[in-house]
Amino acid sequence: MKTHAEDTAKHHTPHIIVVGGTSGLGLALAVHHLQLGWQVSVIGSNEAKIEHINRQYPTIVTYACDLTDVIQTQSLLDELSAISFDRLIYSAGNYTNERVNHLNQADSDKMLAINLQAFEQVFRWASVQLKQQHQSLDFAKDCRPSLICIASIAGTMDYPYASLYAKSKRAMIAAASAYRVALDPYDIQVTCIASGYIDTQALRDLNDGDASHKPFIMSLQTAVVEIMKAIDDDVELAIFPRSMRYIIRALNHLPKPLLNWILRSKLDRPS
Ligand SMILES: NC(=O)c1ccc[n+]([C@@H]2O[C@H](COP(=O)([O-])OP(=O)(O)OC[C@H]3O[C@@H](n4cnc5c(N)ncnc54)[C@H](OP(=O)(O)O)[C@@H]3O)[C@@H](O)[C@H]2O)c1
Repeated sequence: MKTHAEDTAKHHTPHIIVVGGTSGLGLALAVHHLQLGWQVSVIGSNEAKIEHINRQYPTIVTYACDLTDVIQTQSLLDELSAISFDRLIYSAGNYTNERVNHLNQADSDKMLAINLQAFEQVFRWASVQLKQQHQSLDFAKDCRPSLICIASIAGTMDYPYASLYAKSKRAMIAAASAYRVALDPYDIQVTCIASGYIDTQALRDLNDGDASHKPFIMSLQTAVVEIMKAIDDDVELAIFPRSMRYIIRALNHLPKPLLNWILRSKLDRPS
């Protein structure tokens, strides 16, 4: 005879929450999970994007929230605490041509809030939720709970001249690594993605509509395949494309002053 837990697990549709899932990489990952039969929820702040998703993908549940607003974010997380989930992806991000246009106070606040502070708020909440679910055996048996965050290859290099974006993503990589160790006793997976350029609308918008000149730029589809593989293989930190990974590895072996000089001359040009 089947136990109640076995019965629940058998009929359980896994649920994913994609924070920053209203466009670009987050939306592509959300749609991919939808196609795999997952129940999907996405969070973003742009009303037009949310309306588009509601029309295009009526089964995706959308939540409007400005992640730069701590109170608003907390009340959404409180609302979501009533719903169980198996995977959360933090894909929200803010990037700009930081070297060319020096960040003003408002842009700097926004970049720190989205790329680092809201990430910390969401991961803290999500880890508590998954641990509670773990204790109540609320998980689908064939689906290991996971927390995924989208950092950037820019965060894998350690150099003093790094931008606020690179430093925030570097902090995200370090935080994810700590969460991975902390959540291991609960059998909760934590994977961090550090990708190179992905041909999203946001990146094209920053480059007058065409980002094809970016080194080793990859399509959204390729990025989704790489990320899903990293999740399936339980990779701690996935750095891709491979060509970029090798370059970064080589650069990280250079003496710091030389690395700093190279990056300074390279990064101070329009991207
Ligand atoms: N594209 C690349 O080349 C590349 C490379 C490496 C890493 N990444 C990282 O990948 C992630 C996705 O980038 P993308 O290119 O797909 O850009 P995108 O389309 O702009 O995606 C960013 C997501 O974050 C959400 N977001 C931004 N500000 C928000 C706010 N204040 N409140 C709530 N949600 C907010 C956006 O939703 P709303 O607009 O609805 O607010 C959107 O869903 C980012 O973390 C980025 O750093 C991108």
